[in-house]
Amino acid sequence: MEMESENPNHPTNGLINIILCGAPGSGKGTQSDLIIKKYNLLHISSGELLRKEIAEGTELGKEAEIVIGNGQLVRDEMIIKMIEHQIETLDADLYNGVIFDGFPRTLAQAESLERIFNEHGTTTDLLINLQVDEDELVKRILSRGKTSGRNDDNLETIRKRFDVYEKQTKPIIGFYKNIGKYAEIDGMGTMEEVFERITKEIDAVVNE
Ligand code: AP5
Ligand code: MG
Repeated sequence: MEMESENPNHPTNGLINIILCGAPGSGKGTQSDLIIKKYNLLHISSGELLRKEIAEGTELGKEAEIVIGNGQLVRDEMIIKMIEHQIETLDADLYNGVIFDGFPRTLAQAESLERIFNEHGTTTDLLINLQVDEDELVKRILSRGKTSGRNDDNLETIRKRFDVYEKQTKPIIGFYKNIGKYAEIDGMGTMEEVFERITKEIDAVVNE
């Protein structure tokens, strides 16, 4: 990562690093698209990176396709390598920082992210947790499934994804709460309403 920070004493070395967390269908991708425009951040979505690997037919893609179709998580080691590459090739002249969408998803991934950031003299500013009712999540994903072509947008896989989220991803919330970098957002309502709530949290961190 090339660091050309305006304020080298800032704990994040001038970069804004935000994590968007939330159950499948909670709006992570949708809100990331809005956030990157407003704050000029690089969008790193582990799900999108994996779908790109699948589309390109790489070895990682072949393995990921099966795991994703089963609603399980791809191995930490593969994900961490993929994300580390993204962080290392980030051009700090082009972006003010990063929005992570769907990463970290396990405690091991969260710990690795903080280690990688640490090595680059930066850190996570905030994890934003989008809260959406389960009925609404199912509705959104099934509706998207009509056109998405995603092999995990069906009722059977959705149930597994929810279960995996509860067991493997929720523990990262405690991790970020403990270090005082946690905000919970009501993810119900229109995209604009949710975005408004998110910007309040990001602005509070950016203007610190
Ligand atoms: P990933 O791609 O991350 O999927 P996900 O977490 O299951 O979440 P989705 O992408 O389904 O939902 P979203 O929160 O982005 O919501 P969206 O904005 O699209 O991961 C897929 C799989 O890859 C995982 O299951 C795993 O196998 C693997 N993987 C990925 N990352 C991994 C990692 N770190 N480690 C291990 N494995 C990993 O919104 C959903 C729909 O609702 C859209 O159609 C949208 O238009 C609509 N919508 C959004 N907001 C609103 C609103 N406010 N009102 C009405 N509709 C809305
Ligand atoms: Mg998504």
